[in-house]
Amino acid sequence: MEAAAHVLVFPWPLQGHINCMHHLATALLDAGLHVTFLHTHHNLQRLATHPAPAQPRLRLLSIPDGLPEDHPRSVAHLNDLMDSMRTTGSAAYRALLASSSNKDGHPPVTCVIADGVMAFAVDVAEEVGLPAIAFRTASACSFLTYLSVRRLVELGEFPIPSDQPVSGVPGMEGFLRRRDLPRAPRRAGSATDDCGVDPMLLNMGECTVHSGEARALILNTSASMEAAALAHIAPHMRDVFSVGPLHAAAGTGTKSAATTASLWREDDGCMAWLDGQPDRSVVYVSLGSLTVISEEQLAEFLSGLAATGYAFLWVLRPDMVAGGTTGLTAVKMLVGEKARVVHWAPQRDVLRHRAVGCFLTHAGWNSTLEAAYEGVPTVCWTFFGDQLINSRFVETVWRTGVDIKDVCDRAVVEKAVREAMESGEIRAAAKAMALQLKLDVADGGSSSSEIKRLVAFIKELSP
Ligand code: UDX
Repeated sequence: MEAAAHVLVFPWPLQGHINCMHHLATALLDAGLHVTFLHTHHNLQRLATHPAPAQPRLRLLSIPDGLPEDHPRSVAHLNDLMDSMRTTGSAAYRALLASSSNKDGHPPVTCVIADGVMAFAVDVAEEVGLPAIAFRTASACSFLTYLSVRRLVELGEFPIPSDQPVSGVPGMEGFLRRRDLPRAPRRAGSATDDCGVDPMLLNMGECTVHSGEARALILNTSASMEAAALAHIAPHMRDVFSVGPLHAAAGTGTKSAATTASLWREDDGCMAWLDGQPDRSVVYVSLGSLTVISEEQLAEFLSGLAATGYAFLWVLRPDMVAGGTTGLTAVKMLVGEKARVVHWAPQRDVLRHRAVGCFLTHAGWNSTLEAAYEGVPTVCWTFFGDQLINSRFVETVWRTGVDIKDVCDRAVVEKAVREAMESGEIRAAAKAMALQLKLDVADGGSSSSEIKRLVAFIKELSP
């Protein structure tokens, strides 16, 4: 009799990573596999306000991340998290895998899918005898760029930002510029790029190369969006599965799955507010789970948005504006009837709402895919990492939005938002992409077939 395949899914412990790996877990559960979803103690506690789904084949476990409970775990401290996960987290993970025989009625773990950002997670699994697959939460175009970091450094094209074209990323010659390459998080308030060759970026490059040692690579993307980048990645990996957009592919179009993965409590009240707005009249503004902006940037965004005359729904996390809450209070006083501010929104429901006309985003990959799937044009203002290349693709390859990159200026914001709200061409491209993605995740579509192939692959790996 075939042993039950049981996959341990281990995301890097940040919201953007948890979300899509949670969708992957849902897809594997839908296919009949057992899943252990591994959180950190800190995050599991934050999730605890949300009921876990009643799914007997799903188990939630946690390990320490090694940081003190009152550590901010914010974007300014990502290196702390990286270091402590590599030491304390890694040791706890090894102990957990080594002791994972039949427990709580679950069969033994037979395979690991680990976030490729944590190279140790792949190595440790293989060392204890479990086959490991790497999962990356970012786009194929950014993965390919990270794969090319050594070459970019050799060529001296990385990471000095400018409009100069780069030649170090295969297939992107001609339109990729130095300022589209990954960048370390910008300090709030710095208008220009101030990073040297940041060790975090070099480390990301090494992690990306390391994914070639895993049994396979899974990417949350679709062949219809990123065929060229996928073709360039394939020779460097043992196998590649392009299964996205996972939030739709997993059949999790409803709110329930995301709710259980959310580290913030969603403010559902904004949905009733959207119900009262005309079709395609609202700008949705969210800069993801990590971005931090200064009070000056807040003021530029606010003035630019107000000048468009459109209503807007703005997600302002409590930890998002550096230097306190004066700016937040100002927004709340200024916006009146024309706008709504929330700490955290049910984003996929918001993007699906008929009243939303465009999305001002930081071009995080989840947000980019969620907007693409709903056919919502985007204005991209980027903060760090893969977002810089995602935004370039949005404007010049997919033509589904406007890339303002790192320019936070009220006149630029106003012009870009107007264009995204009013351009028939952008809207048509966004609609066409949404239609294609719906085909990709439907039965027989490319991403749906890739999930089936992945499930078969996992079953084969399971003893
Ligand atoms: C980061 C990177 O930016 C991203 O590219 C990478 O692949 C994963 O980590 P983050 O910056 O948080 O993530 O952005 P994004 O990838 O867009 O993920 C944010 C997630 O939070 C999305 O799934 C979005 O739907 C959700 N969200 C955001 C909410 O549910 N409510 C909100 O109010 C804001």
